Amino acid sequence: MNSGLTVVGSPVRKVRPSSDVPGWKNMLKNKHAPTYTHCIRVAKLAHMLGTAMRLTEKELAQLGTGCCLHDIGKLMIPNSILNSSKPMTDREWRLMKLHPEIGSDILERTTSVDREVIEIVRHHHERWDGTGYPAGLKGADIPLFARICSVVDAFDSMISERPYRKRRTIEEAVTELIAHGGTQFDTAIVLQFEAIVKDVQYLYPIKIQANESSRTRHEERADTQG
Ligand SMILES: [Fe+2]
Repeated sequence: MNSGLTVVGSPVRKVRPSSDVPGWKNMLKNKHAPTYTHCIRVAKLAHMLGTAMRLTEKELAQLGTGCCLHDIGKLMIPNSILNSSKPMTDREWRLMKLHPEIGSDILERTTSVDREVIEIVRHHHERWDGTGYPAGLKGADIPLFARICSVVDAFDSMISERPYRKRRTIEEAVTELIAHGGTQFDTAIVLQFEAIVKDVQYLYPIKIQANESSRTRHEERADTQG
């Protein structure tokens, strides 16, 4: 454990186990800024949605922390994959799909965050119909906070700029979320998000800065999966 974890393709070659959440956030910021800013927006969106869902302060804190760290496992994914604008090879896709397990393992080993936080990181790519990963959980078996993260993660991915296509409008993204309700997403959460989506515009300036335009192939391959 004390020897640290190797970060592939990062200027930071060794990651020292961090006992605090800000430490891990900083590592992600240093390794891949677009993923970091995506995580920050997802956490803000989740907090807004969770507030509308009348979660308690403790629950909101867990939700915000988990969403902020949901892609922390990408610390171990080479930047060459994260930045690539080419279709991922099967091998790259298999590697990319490990990031929820890698991330939750990192947090379990190095922090004392709540179980609810770790569950968000581990299960944010599960799908309502059971075809997601890593566990193939289905419906309400997917932890609620992970279901919330899944919706806002996909939303942010869809309306963020990509090098190979224009971002979708908020209206288009909501339409896409609704279309995937009951298969990919929990429909009840999608509808609750639709009710507050008018309030999220401030997170998305008209022109997204160039250094945020480099999105992951993972996000393109599974466009509504974040
Ligand atoms: Fe992810």
